[in-house]
Amino acid sequence: MTEKLFLTDVKTLRDRARKHIEHGAVTEGYRADRATVIRLLNEALATEIVCVLRYRRHHFMATGINAESVAQEFLLHAIEEQAHADQIAQRIVQLGGEPNLSPDGLLTRSHSEYVEGGSLLEMIKEDLVAERVAIDSYREMIGYLGNDDSTTRRMLEGILAMEEEHANDLVSLLEKFGS
Ligand SMILES: [Fe+2]
Ligand SMILES: [Fe+2]
Repeated sequence: MTEKLFLTDVKTLRDRARKHIEHGAVTEGYRADRATVIRLLNEALATEIVCVLRYRRHHFMATGINAESVAQEFLLHAIEEQAHADQIAQRIVQLGGEPNLSPDGLLTRSHSEYVEGGSLLEMIKEDLVAERVAIDSYREMIGYLGNDDSTTRRMLEGILAMEEEHANDLVSLLEKFGS
């Protein structure tokens, strides 16, 4: 029974839940700094959107003997980055914020860059660089959140795992077509 000492008693839990019901999922027990989390998530959202745009551009511009399979890979990544953007936008709303989808300042908010790339090889390299940027920034956010917002942290961990897969895919493409 000693572990019970660490838990809030039922009456307090019930009373607290009735206060500020307009905050929805954000309860008094939310430990992270909400404004900071929303700002970080908006930066991640911008990063994902820039990645969608870059991958789509690369998808349509991929030419050459190896273009078809690479173009398909670019499209798949574009679709997956869009799904990340949607997950992040939804979480921002859940936290009481607003997703910033304005094209104004998109590149400034984004961590990754939008590089068109002249050749297929350059495109693959630029996408790999962008994935590596995303991997490091997600890792930092995850570390920052710790146990203060485990829902956001778990979402970001899922996205991070996929960015690592993307980077791995691109390295394989480089090895296949790069030399
Ligand atoms: Fe992504
Ligand atoms: Fe990615």
